[in-house]
Amino acid sequence: MKDNQTILQDKLKASKLGGGQERIKKQHAKGKLTAHERIHFLLDEGSFEEMGALVTHRTKDFGMDKQVFYGDGVVTGYGTINDRQVYVFAQDFTVFGGALSETHAEKICKVMDMAMKIGVPLIGLNDSGGARIQEGVRSLGGYADIFHKNVMASGVIPQISAIMGPCAGGAVYSPAMTDFTLMVENSSYMFVTGPNVVKTVTNEEVTSEELGGASTHATKSGVTHLTAANDIACINQIKQLVSYMPQNCEDTPAQLPYELGEEVRDVLEEIVPENANQPYDMRHVINGIIDEESFFEIHKDYAENIVVGFARIAGKSIGIVANQPISLAGVLDVEASKKAARFTRFCDCFNIPLLVLVDVPGFLPGTDQEWNGIITNGAKLLYALSEATVPKITVITRKAYGGAYDVMNSKHIGADMNYAWPGAEIAVMGAKGASEIIFRKEIASAEDPEAKLIEKEKEYADKFANPYSAAERGFIDEVILPKDTRRKLIKAFAMLENKSVKLPKKKHGNIPL
Ligand code: COA
Repeated sequence: MKDNQTILQDKLKASKLGGGQERIKKQHAKGKLTAHERIHFLLDEGSFEEMGALVTHRTKDFGMDKQVFYGDGVVTGYGTINDRQVYVFAQDFTVFGGALSETHAEKICKVMDMAMKIGVPLIGLNDSGGARIQEGVRSLGGYADIFHKNVMASGVIPQISAIMGPCAGGAVYSPAMTDFTLMVENSSYMFVTGPNVVKTVTNEEVTSEELGGASTHATKSGVTHLTAANDIACINQIKQLVSYMPQNCEDTPAQLPYELGEEVRDVLEEIVPENANQPYDMRHVINGIIDEESFFEIHKDYAENIVVGFARIAGKSIGIVANQPISLAGVLDVEASKKAARFTRFCDCFNIPLLVLVDVPGFLPGTDQEWNGIITNGAKLLYALSEATVPKITVITRKAYGGAYDVMNSKHIGADMNYAWPGAEIAVMGAKGASEIIFRKEIASAEDPEAKLIEKEKEYADKFANPYSAAERGFIDEVILPKDTRRKLIKAFAMLENKSVKLPKKKHGNIPL
């Protein structure tokens, strides 16, 4: 007869093996790690404490009573990433394809509750064939329990979802409600309905990869914020992401040690071209301002006309929202507005100060934009920046035209410090367009209309294509040399550290969705 210790060891060993060696081999053959391996690489060595390793499903139908695996297709527990506590669940594809049963869902809900109670980030590693088909509505109920907890946890603790295999049907909605989604290239996909249903309903022929692979969601839909070449790269991105965040909404982001120096960066003087119509890469400005190699870009390949991401300045986390002149001249459009608004709201939820870099010629005109609701979508960014109570600083590097000037963290919507570089143009529109409208009659009746237009354009540019009208009114707090930007920002963010703003009492606002 086996002694107690052996019985326990046998059970735990069986649990570690999930669906068994054969299925583990299959998982590896697809270039995927198992749930236990993923957790091993995610957490600090030896820090993982598993909970619920011996949970089993309760289904008897369809011969399920003869197919019982310890853990029931999901590994759950807690551990640390760089010494900071996190809760984690990793679906185990080797057990019923990681399909979600009632008990599987209960395990996930338990770690969600614990993460909320303790106030630490929750990381979900998804790899699942969806609802456990043998369990029917019990499985659907399990999903809904998770969705509801995702919503309750939103804005309380950071929630991160990595998609490392299939994720279809209802399963997609938990990641969609978390703060960040990552996908592994060529081994993961997300869709509400798969290629077969798509073919039946719409007659479209599409592969899983085209319909919902990592690259599709990184470029076309924006559903995923980050993609990685393989499981390990994805796990490393999660660790990096977590390093910029606080543990919860009442905590401040982790800070790296930093010793202040002179902090002047001459390289910033060389980036903006003299010709106002020539593009430049705003990432050079970002890298010139922040601590070296600290920029972690989010949504890199989606709505490239706006850049968002985390960085550090003097060791402290900040979130950056920046127009990108090398893509569509940095205009605001539907996608860019949504991308920037969502990122802004994350930073505001979790006390991450915001830096907004502005070079924006306005909103993108056209039927496509109007019919796709640029009004409502542009309003999202305006709303998100207005509502944010974290320290908010703006630097206008070149153009700030029209309504986009207001939207891009202007003084009027609550920015704390507004800087402009000497070459900034803060105006209703570019000098040419403005002159054609306001001097139309004068130009038309002139002997040489073209010469008149040039003369009037210069007159308008002299008056408005500069930062001084705005500075005279206090809309700009200071016009600064590009090379001094980092120095000024370090001081300003330090000055704003104890900023405290109370929003009017309300249930919640009604952001234009
Ligand atoms: N419920 C129960 N078991 C499931 C399952 C589900 N939703 N999805 C997969 N499985 C099981 C399979 O029966 C198989 O079991 P086995 O190891 O005992 O043979 C195992 O998981 C692996 O599935 P398999 O189909 O061999 O893997 P694959 O990599 O070829 O395909 C999927 C993966 C997810 C594409 C495929 O399994 C699938 O289409 N599953 C159903 C998806 C679905 O309709 N879900 C319900 C609606 S949300």
